[in-house]
Amino acid sequence: MSTTRFLTGITTTGTPHLGNFVGSIRPSVAASLTPGVQSFYFLADYHALIKCEDPVRIQRSTLEIAASWLAAGLNPEKVTFYRQSDIPEIPELTWLLTCVTGKGVLNRAHAYKASVDKNVAAERDADDGVTAGLFMYPVLMGADILMFKAHKVPVGRDQIQHIEMARDMAASFNHLYGEHFVLPEAAIDDHVATLPGLDGRKMSKSYDNTIPLFSSREQLKKLIGGILTDSRAPGEPKEVEGSALFQIYQAFATEAETAALRQQYADGIAWGDAKQVLLERVDQVIAPMRAQYEELINNPARIETTLLAGAERARALATPFIRELRSAVGLRSLVQAGAATKAAKAAKVALPSFKQYREADGKFYFKFVAADGRLLLQSTGFDAPKDAGQAIAQLQKDGHALQALAPRLAPVDGVAQADVEAALQALAEAAAAA
Ligand code: TRP
Repeated sequence: MSTTRFLTGITTTGTPHLGNFVGSIRPSVAASLTPGVQSFYFLADYHALIKCEDPVRIQRSTLEIAASWLAAGLNPEKVTFYRQSDIPEIPELTWLLTCVTGKGVLNRAHAYKASVDKNVAAERDADDGVTAGLFMYPVLMGADILMFKAHKVPVGRDQIQHIEMARDMAASFNHLYGEHFVLPEAAIDDHVATLPGLDGRKMSKSYDNTIPLFSSREQLKKLIGGILTDSRAPGEPKEVEGSALFQIYQAFATEAETAALRQQYADGIAWGDAKQVLLERVDQVIAPMRAQYEELINNPARIETTLLAGAERARALATPFIRELRSAVGLRSLVQAGAATKAAKAAKVALPSFKQYREADGKFYFKFVAADGRLLLQSTGFDAPKDAGQAIAQLQKDGHALQALAPRLAPVDGVAQADVEAALQALAEAAAAA
């Protein structure tokens, strides 16, 4: 069975909340257990520097996010789980991609444009307070994805544009330097809920309306107590639509439990009682993970070891791949220049070619090989190099020469006449275009 590679990153600027759990951690951990799936999950700490200039917070967030994912059941034996900044090949690839990315494309990236629009609206300089890091962010993200040849990238809708950009970078690079990158696709799961926060808007750190995933039960009780409700009194029927409390419950409960609470709403459950129901249900899911989380967070050395082991596995792929990419663009040893130039030409133009050579029997031969190196034609021996050259010239000029030259060609196993003709034609077209 062929495997599909999933990859996603989590920016290390905050403390995981219930919205992250429902929208990302829980589905990702579940997806990593699917047969035929290979998962790469990483802590995007280079990305964190774009938004956060507080070193302590970045370190703390990295610890909390790693502990949360592990406590939620991520198996680091099964998933390649690593910290982005442990992979120096990532910033190196970022530069290679930077050089094939149009500046105009980055001008149109949503995150950058939002900052510019805000400045313009406030009549400030368009780039006021905008770092080059924010501007370059899609390229760093492209490197994250392309480095590990991910097929699918599970992200929120706000990130789709970045995946499309990564795809374009891959295509540009492949076009210039040969097929090196897999073209990734965004994987959007329409079934996962977007959780409302305490104020009913989407739960998000930027709205300051979150419930931390690993609050103590006391804290959890207090926060749930603060969820916005309407002013209907006990006994009055209540609406489930637009009820943040109900939506959060639904994300943690079974269908039957959800139906039961819906009925209680209709029967006029008091908000205080509904909040108690929610507390118990959320705590039932969180409590076993909370114990794990506490243990992990109090043992940072263990998490560090886990992440370094993940980085080692990731680098086993990244190190040879960046070597290949460096060579493809021409960053390579001078000693190998000749051989490498030929390889690069073959990769760049991706054309079939004729090769002329002399054998030990003193005769002169040629072969015709496909762009991928597959042998298409093999000549018999010519007495003079000129004769071999003439035969090649004839084939290059006219595909029909194949018939005329048949007596001078040795059979090649498993090659169809049509393949040879197609390859000759591709060569002729390239020559005409040059
Ligand atoms: N930018 C993503 C976010 O803010 C996080 C991220 C960084 C990411 N690199 C990635 C996601 C690569 C998927 C793939 O959510």
